[in-house]
Amino acid sequence: GLIDFSSLDGYTGFILRGTLVTLLFTLVSALLGFIWGTILSLFKLSTVKPLQWFATVYTSVFRGTPLLLQLVLIYYATPQLTGYDIPALLAAGLAFGLNSAAYLSETIRGGIMAVDRGQREAAMALGIPYRTMMVSIIFPQAVKNILPALVNECVALIKESSLVSVIGVADLLRRASEVQAATYRALESLLFVGAIYYVLVLVLTSLARLLERRLRRSD
Ligand code: ARG
Repeated sequence: GLIDFSSLDGYTGFILRGTLVTLLFTLVSALLGFIWGTILSLFKLSTVKPLQWFATVYTSVFRGTPLLLQLVLIYYATPQLTGYDIPALLAAGLAFGLNSAAYLSETIRGGIMAVDRGQREAAMALGIPYRTMMVSIIFPQAVKNILPALVNECVALIKESSLVSVIGVADLLRRASEVQAATYRALESLLFVGAIYYVLVLVLTSLARLLERRLRRSD
């Protein structure tokens, strides 16, 4: 028939297990991106010129070239440079973490700058050390303010994670292609993983909305 989901019989478990790969991969790259992005944002806000310069050039390069290019470059050029293969998942985590950090560093920088300067002045007047002020006072407020942007970044990561199928990581999209090759049918497996991506994004945005409402109540 034109569309026949029974063609997926015996393959659904195989495809569904790709959800775990996609989710785990997204989580790791989001964490990496957030940590490195935070460090880069502090570089941008610092008064040390070389740090500012480095973070600015870094962001410009990683935002100015395709993520897919960064991914295949890390995966295929590492053996040439080092003589050792790099595991596909490691290459992918690196590429996505490094790329996401570029975007997040701008978001986080904006969030920190947007925290009312009275907060900083009050902390300084109280003699609170710079580090403590940043970690316990400024940063939590910044993160709270940029929560919607952080959720957007996670949504982008979930969807863009499908690029890793290109270097052979058995994520959702890759598994759909493999089922397509086995069944000679493209429509059903692709629609199936499309629905899974969509549900993942819906769940994430719903959780984020709940969290945001709770945080607002505590104001
Ligand atoms: N597709 C864009 C690229 O190729 C987006 C990269 C990922 N986006 C992001 N917010 N991390 O560069």
